[in-house]
Amino acid sequence: MLSKSVQSKLNDQIQKEAIASRAYLAMATWAEQQGLPNIANYFYNSSNEERDHMLQLFRYINANGGTAKLEEKGGKVKENFKNVQDAFKHVYDLEHGVSVAINEIATWCLQNGEHATYFFLQPFVLEQQAAENKVTEILTIIERMGFEPRNLFYLDKQFKKINETGAGE
Ligand SMILES: [Fe+2]
Repeated sequence: MLSKSVQSKLNDQIQKEAIASRAYLAMATWAEQQGLPNIANYFYNSSNEERDHMLQLFRYINANGGTAKLEEKGGKVKENFKNVQDAFKHVYDLEHGVSVAINEIATWCLQNGEHATYFFLQPFVLEQQAAENKVTEILTIIERMGFEPRNLFYLDKQFKKINETGAGE
């Protein structure tokens, strides 16, 4: 049975994953409107991954005697970006925020003898590290290929390859 404090921390994380999932959907809409279908796909896939993280937390809480809950209040997500670089800088901030939150829960679990939840969180910790690395790599590609209107066709095409490897791998 999960302690009340662990449950409440994991439920807070559920809200963060849900907001991240919605933030990626808003970015997908933005990319579609810019005529960048492969970049839009990257955002759709990322949105799905965040929802999947949320579901894993739901299942873990409920399977261990707790009550998982997605709050109604979700917070506003960013819908407009200056350019592709600006959008991916936002992705970095988003992923970094999630990493900080996951690390804080893992640290708390370790310090408070919550070893099962600590182990449950390990794949999340590693996935966040991989996600941050991936976005850093993408920002380098964006800088090197350029993100002026005339570069966007090729930059978007590049995302076909990026999407094949998965957003957080
Ligand atoms: Fe996530």
